[in-house]
Amino acid sequence: MTFSPYDRPVRAAFVGLGRIYDLNMRAYVDNPDVEVVALVDPSEERRAERQSDWPAARTFATVAELASSGLEVDAVEALLPIPLHVEGVIELLGNGWHVNLQKPLCNDLASASRMLDAARANDRQLRVMENYVFYEPLVKLKEVVESGEIGEVGGYHLKMVASGLGGWEVPGSSYEWQFKQIREGRGILVFDDGWHKLSTALWLFGPVREVRAWIGGTEVMPGIAIDAPSTIVWEHESGIRGVWDITLAPDMYLRSDYYTNDERWEVTGRRGYARVNRCTGRGIQQPSLDVYADGEMRSYHALDDDWASSFRDSGRHWLRYLHTGQGPLLWSGEEAVSVLRFALAAYASSAAGGTGVDPASLQ
Ligand SMILES: NC(=O)c1ccc[n+]([C@@H]2O[C@H](COP(=O)([O-])OP(=O)(O)OC[C@H]3O[C@@H](n4cnc5c(N)ncnc54)[C@H](O)[C@@H]3O)[C@@H](O)[C@H]2O)c1
Repeated sequence: MTFSPYDRPVRAAFVGLGRIYDLNMRAYVDNPDVEVVALVDPSEERRAERQSDWPAARTFATVAELASSGLEVDAVEALLPIPLHVEGVIELLGNGWHVNLQKPLCNDLASASRMLDAARANDRQLRVMENYVFYEPLVKLKEVVESGEIGEVGGYHLKMVASGLGGWEVPGSSYEWQFKQIREGRGILVFDDGWHKLSTALWLFGPVREVRAWIGGTEVMPGIAIDAPSTIVWEHESGIRGVWDITLAPDMYLRSDYYTNDERWEVTGRRGYARVNRCTGRGIQQPSLDVYADGEMRSYHALDDDWASSFRDSGRHWLRYLHTGQGPLLWSGEEAVSVLRFALAAYASSAAGGTGVDPASLQ
């Protein structure tokens, strides 16, 4: 695909003005790389609410209305419910717009091919936004690991606890599409939020050659099971192994400005370890990154550990890319397919009783 950066600010539209808009929009505020020209959402209430952020933008109830309005748009911030990603993104690309899509890309490889084909056919960029790889404590963790400070890496551990109490309000309408995803076997912890954890694994240590998983479920209301307890282990092509445990704590209160997700990443090397203590929520309230080596603990006290900043920085990266051509995309459509394969390999392994599955072998 050919891509020529714009020699002027990018004209952008937000499509989907729900919960996560509150964080994604931060990349667009006071950003000379972009001009927000349109807001699209079928909800009149949402449109009115978000219009106050961008008084000069025009509002539309549908993408079709925007497309036929004659308004010039270069790129779209696609914040659609997951079940609308495939057809929604194909429509956006078909209108000749670059797309920054929220994760997960989609539920299966056939749909992913259709989306990537649409990007190629329209010669447009499809990016799947990954905010975690812009979270400063994780960026610093990667730097520490690559510096050799903790020695050669032996393995690492991701932990995730979904707690039931605390955090911000999630609209009831979001649960409707989340439950649809659950019924299709794409759970909120392993697949939706889990997408980020799998992304960080690929970003930290490269391609994965084998995945083994035991995905469980806990019924939280009749017919609706949350996908925990779950344990997923994998081996990278480098031989480094990772393990990720997911636990549900429905009665645990967690302080958070966002979702109530207690998360950790801990990499162990021959000489020491480096651990990111939290991300979305404020579970462990000590410096967000600790590094232990040679009998000494060093803690990072001044990192920007507000989860929202990772959305701001990921979005800014995309807009800078469109304006200047400075990449890489983090993530491109192809890279997002690797994350999808990783998740699908976990499902295939779990269904087969925990046997090893090579993500590349999936059809
Ligand atoms: N990066 C992260 O950590 C993170 C966190 C939460 C959500 N997300 C992702 O963001 C996306 C949106 O999630 P959310 O929590 O904001 O959902 P939400 O339900 O709060 O908002 C979705 C919005 O889309 C609107 N909408 C529905 N159909 C539409 C259409 N055809 N055209 C335009 N707008 C339409 C709805 O009216 C609603 O306002 C999902 O892909 C989700 O996975 C990512």
